[in-house]
Amino acid sequence: MPERKLRVGIAGLGLIARTHAIAYQQLGDVVELTAVCDVNESVASAFAAEFGARSTTDLDALLSDPEIDIVDLILPHFLHVEAATKALSAGKHLILEKPAAPSYAGAVEIYRAAQKVGVHFMIAENSRYMHSYQAAAKLLAEDAIGDVIHVRTELRSNEKEHLSQPGNWRTKFELGGGLVLDTGAHSFYLISWLLGEFASVRGVGKKLFNLASEIEDTAEVTGSLKSGAHFSSTFTSVSEIPHSERLELYGTTGGILIDQMSDPVVKLFKGPHDYYGQAIDVPFGPDAWHPGGWHFESVLSEVKDFIMSLLEKRAPLIDSRDPVYAVRIVEAVYESIRSSESVIDLSAVTRDEIEARP
Ligand SMILES: NC(=O)c1ccc[n+]([C@@H]2O[C@H](COP(=O)([O-])OP(=O)(O)OC[C@H]3O[C@@H](n4cnc5c(N)ncnc54)[C@H](O)[C@@H]3O)[C@@H](O)[C@H]2O)c1
Repeated sequence: MPERKLRVGIAGLGLIARTHAIAYQQLGDVVELTAVCDVNESVASAFAAEFGARSTTDLDALLSDPEIDIVDLILPHFLHVEAATKALSAGKHLILEKPAAPSYAGAVEIYRAAQKVGVHFMIAENSRYMHSYQAAAKLLAEDAIGDVIHVRTELRSNEKEHLSQPGNWRTKFELGGGLVLDTGAHSFYLISWLLGEFASVRGVGKKLFNLASEIEDTAEVTGSLKSGAHFSSTFTSVSEIPHSERLELYGTTGGILIDQMSDPVVKLFKGPHDYYGQAIDVPFGPDAWHPGGWHFESVLSEVKDFIMSLLEKRAPLIDSRDPVYAVRIVEAVYESIRSSESVIDLSAVTRDEIEARP
């Protein structure tokens, strides 16, 4: 138990902020949500009243607030670099929602600033805390499917409401909008965590709906990993489905199918006659299975791991170089989309260069 509770300030009070705030509530013995900030005054004051915090609309004031130990940034992507570097300059511990930044250079800048200041730092990537993906990592470590030769990811959501709002930051590239950045960051993190670095990527980006948005609403990305495995990823934000994720791992001796909208979520298959597969139990909360529970639980766990790792003086589960590396892959995919879907060679790009980049 610390001598006094750690004090947190959240900046950016959109939908996902509530889950972060609930995590702090649940860790109420060791942490308190002291202040919250949003440019929208009514959003800020309502959120503050609900969670018993102070509210402000002044981002700079929150980032340097002397009463706050930890800054939690849940902001539109175009604000990440400026807000994160300001919080770090003020000596705050920092939890930053994915993607690290809209550009790789920006993501590296944040990572290096955090290393230099020496505070506790994490780029929040909830994929690392999903029970289903942890089960997949365990199965791979146990050699349950042999060598992985093909991995497929799929993320689908319905963002048509946001993409229909002129001025919404998700609709414009210059504000950090872009489906491959927003969603691909999750998949590229997941693939590299489970299977290692990328060797090449090729991307196709499409706008299937004529909404008030300039970004691609659907993308297909393929390529290879340095392990020799082939990968393919499908992303869309215009499906009539709230939020779903799939991971398929095909190995030399078995396959793993994960579908967050299915029950059971994780199945292991072996051989041509194994139509039913073996259900792999993944621990969920009080409800054994809930269509949206996995997302809520994984975000709760990531925030709690950040706080507990700070108190326990250990590293969090996420090595923040990995979400930074994911932004490097995102950048390569956009380079491919812009260059007539050409193949981008990543064989010389390593996650370790994040430390060494000038
Ligand atoms: N891990 C996940 O599954 C997940 C899910 C959703 C969002 N996210 C991430 O969380 C971050 C925020 O996304 P969101 O969906 O909550 O966005 P959002 O648009 O719903 O919310 C952003 C909030 O920031 C506020 N804001 C804008 N400019 C501000 C400023 N200068 N100062 C203070 N507040 C300001 C807005 O008024 C808004 O309330 C992004 O990095 C996003 O990628 C992660």
